Amino acid sequence: MTYLVNGLYIVAFGMFIYGLMGLTGPKTAVRGNLIAAVGMFIAVVATLISVRHTSNWILIIAGLVVGIALGVPPAKFTKMTAMPQLVAAFNGVGGGTVALIAWSEFINSQGFSHFDEEPTVHIVVGSLFAAIIGSVSFWGSLVAFGKLQEILPGRPIGLGRLQQPLNLLLLVGAIAAAVVIGVGATNDGVSQVWMIAVLVLAGVLGLAVVLPIGGADMPVVISLLNALTGLSAAAAGLALNNTAMIVAGMIVGASGTILTNLMAKAMNRSIPAIVAGGFGGGGTAPGAGGDGEAKQAKATSAADAAIQMAYANQVIVVPGYGMAVAQAQHAVKEMAALLEAKGVEVKYAIHPVAGRMPGHMNVLLAEAEVSYDALKEMDDINGEFSRTDVALVIGANDVTNPAAREDASSPIYGMPVLNVDQAKSVIVLKRSMNSGFAGIDNPLFYADHTSMLFGDAKKSVGAVTEELKAL
Ligand code: TAP
Repeated sequence: MTYLVNGLYIVAFGMFIYGLMGLTGPKTAVRGNLIAAVGMFIAVVATLISVRHTSNWILIIAGLVVGIALGVPPAKFTKMTAMPQLVAAFNGVGGGTVALIAWSEFINSQGFSHFDEEPTVHIVVGSLFAAIIGSVSFWGSLVAFGKLQEILPGRPIGLGRLQQPLNLLLLVGAIAAAVVIGVGATNDGVSQVWMIAVLVLAGVLGLAVVLPIGGADMPVVISLLNALTGLSAAAAGLALNNTAMIVAGMIVGASGTILTNLMAKAMNRSIPAIVAGGFGGGGTAPGAGGDGEAKQAKATSAADAAIQMAYANQVIVVPGYGMAVAQAQHAVKEMAALLEAKGVEVKYAIHPVAGRMPGHMNVLLAEAEVSYDALKEMDDINGEFSRTDVALVIGANDVTNPAAREDASSPIYGMPVLNVDQAKSVIVLKRSMNSGFAGIDNPLFYADHTSMLFGDAKKSVGAVTEELKAL
């Protein structure tokens, strides 16, 4: 039986890794996700086979049914724009599960003393680590969900300068309670109170760390919490001697850490700076209004925009968060088809952190069935702007800001951006002169070769499309 279980686990691990490889490109992502899901199903079956001697089958089946009933509908019906909060919720549930496993192990063992031999260090440390990190992750993810769903205010909520000392105190408290349990682990049981103290202190720490972070930084925070959930699951796997949990947890921990780093790098921010709070408070930073009016941005009309693009050789569409807000992706696809019919080459420049979640633009454009081949990553397209007739910026702002390249005093200086300003002509679709996520002015909007088409992106694209039809 052990051979069968281990064999199934190895198959499952192979599928996790193969599935993850699929997630590296939009063409293979859906298949990759499916492969990893089948891998997880196999791992669950293997685990159930390995627990033959249990009287709790009814509970196990009830748990599976409740999990499927609660998990499938939101996964199927949640809108693309609400994906970050869904991921936060699912991640929180994972962290909470790990914390509960650690707690139930503690209750079952009455302080780990049920083991035939003395509980080894890895069992005790693994369980306690899982309890702390799982609890931090659960409560932190709940706050992230609340902020993204606008149940909680997006602005930072904290104690200012007292916040960091309080967080440190909570962390030290949780570790101290865990040490009391660890030291007493070989005795005849340790009072439940200590385990509850570990879970409560870690939970409050999760709340205290995430509440002061602005709503717009939540995608990075979720990715970080996701990495922590993976690590806590691996620790719980160590304590339960479950290889599948260790491997799956480490894969989640490692990939979550890499994703967090990539997102922070593409935003030119450090992870400690994000966790300490900073710009991106509520996503409603003051706009460049006053300054902008003084510098005079040029407004244009849908008719002018249509004429410019219809006579271009190449148009690069630069989508951003505003395209997601306006849900303009289908309208963009229709407009691009008309341009292509007129012999214009249309490409899409995808910045790694355009929008508010990794792959945000890819997902929206894929939903509108824009060909993957037309989607170009920043490094591949940046050299092309200088030989492009029109760059059409649709609800993007920070990811096009040339100050990131040129102005050492800019808060986003050093952030890699799309070289939109190098196109021969730039048309920007947005509603006003307001700033984007970083809350800063964008000199691109005042450049001589830039014109602004004000209005909701979907309506503006629709208007341009109508003009193109008439040409
Ligand atoms: P932003 O810089 O946030 O700019 C979006 C622009 O869209 C705004 O200036 C807004 O201007 C416009 N807009 C909003 N609703 C619109 C609508 N209905 N129609 C037309 N325009 C609309 O977006 P970006 O260029 O995509 O950059 C993303 C930013 O988010 C970066 O700073 C990045 O670091 C940050 N961020 C990204 C992520 C990930 S993983 N993608 C995670 C966290 C933070 P108006 O109000 O004038 O319309």
